[in-house]
Amino acid sequence: MLPYQIIEKKSKGEKLSAEEINEFIEGYTAGRIPDYQTSALLMAIFIKGMDTEETLALTKSMLDSGDKMDFSAATGFVADKHSTGGVGDKVSILLAPIMAVLGIHIPMISGRGLGHSGGTLDKLESIPGFDVNLSLDRWRELVLEEKVGLVGQTGNICPADKKLYSLRDVTATVRSIPLISASIMSKKIAEGIQGLVLDVKTGNGAFMQTLEESRALAKSLVSIGKGYGIQTKAVITDMNQPLGLAIGNWVEMKESVQGLQGNGPEDLMAVTYELGAQILMMADPQMDKQDAIELQQQVVNDGRAFEKLLRIVELQGGDPRILETPEKYPKAAHVVRVNADGSGFIAAIDTLALGFAGIELGAGRRVITDPIDHSSGMYMGKKLGDPVSPGDELITLHSNDAAAVDRVAAQIADAFTLSEKPAPTPPLIVEEIL
Ligand code: URA
Repeated sequence: MLPYQIIEKKSKGEKLSAEEINEFIEGYTAGRIPDYQTSALLMAIFIKGMDTEETLALTKSMLDSGDKMDFSAATGFVADKHSTGGVGDKVSILLAPIMAVLGIHIPMISGRGLGHSGGTLDKLESIPGFDVNLSLDRWRELVLEEKVGLVGQTGNICPADKKLYSLRDVTATVRSIPLISASIMSKKIAEGIQGLVLDVKTGNGAFMQTLEESRALAKSLVSIGKGYGIQTKAVITDMNQPLGLAIGNWVEMKESVQGLQGNGPEDLMAVTYELGAQILMMADPQMDKQDAIELQQQVVNDGRAFEKLLRIVELQGGDPRILETPEKYPKAAHVVRVNADGSGFIAAIDTLALGFAGIELGAGRRVITDPIDHSSGMYMGKKLGDPVSPGDELITLHSNDAAAVDRVAAQIADAFTLSEKPAPTPPLIVEEIL
């Protein structure tokens, strides 16, 4: 079939066969099918959806587009965590060293910013010299020896996802259960892991905004993982406001360091420990959740988790000294504090708007080739439920683009809704999907 015919079939809402999906994915990965036809197919899938069989076939084609890792030589449990994407979500950066100190091997393949959401790779690359493109051999060595390696679709791991991900990022085709499922699960299956915990975000800053959609995504991800023999669990967590206070790349890296030094925001630490506990309980089914949380708190409080992060950074070519002296990091040229002009309580935060504001400030991409301004970003002055008086800091913007800061500053206060009385805040850990 011609790519044209495959696009047309999906645009009419018809089911694609595994062969058709594979033919398209192979053709795109090899460069025979151009971006414009692939964008059209992605939009058709986005609008018309895919059933379970099509989603599995898409996952398989993306997985088979590259190499798969084998960690059978690992001495301990091999696991990973992945988030469906949100704003201020830096959990992976904390979780990987914590798990490694506790004996779990973490071969983590992360993504770049996608749509309004930030990406772990962009955050890691804000550390001068940090290399997320290690050779597969070097990555494997790090995972076996240090228990952790933090990379992108390095070498030939899921090259199809690498290309599709960048295209989805700029064509508004992210918010789709089959596309997210195949993207995440192809990478995770390629890692050769035994256990996987998925952080499925729900709320106005998530790709799936309602609990119903988030549940459907969680079920889709879990069923693919189990189908490939991986112990898989999903935890639905709240994304009706950014996680922690920092949004951006370096600012999030800095907040991750604070978290690993025992000074992290409560919500960030709670999600980290919850997901970490799920991995520890997979590795040791006798382990009790409270013990799993306390074990993690211990390795944060005694400094071992931060030491591990410094070691990973050094081994991946980064400068660990900047994490110990973050005040030396180049500052954004323009810093603007946006204040409240009314009083009351923060009743709602438009998290999606904050994510897009981050892109405008330079922390994300508008087109595939956009460079990232690593020092740009935002710090939340208020979170849901906080009391507000006129003149209080709502948010502070950092950017090297003066015009962008002015544009964002003129509108960003609209992302905060005030109420006279405190509104109930949504639960952070919403539910588990087994
Ligand atoms: N994370 C991914 O790796 N892919 C998606 O599509 C969404 C989040």
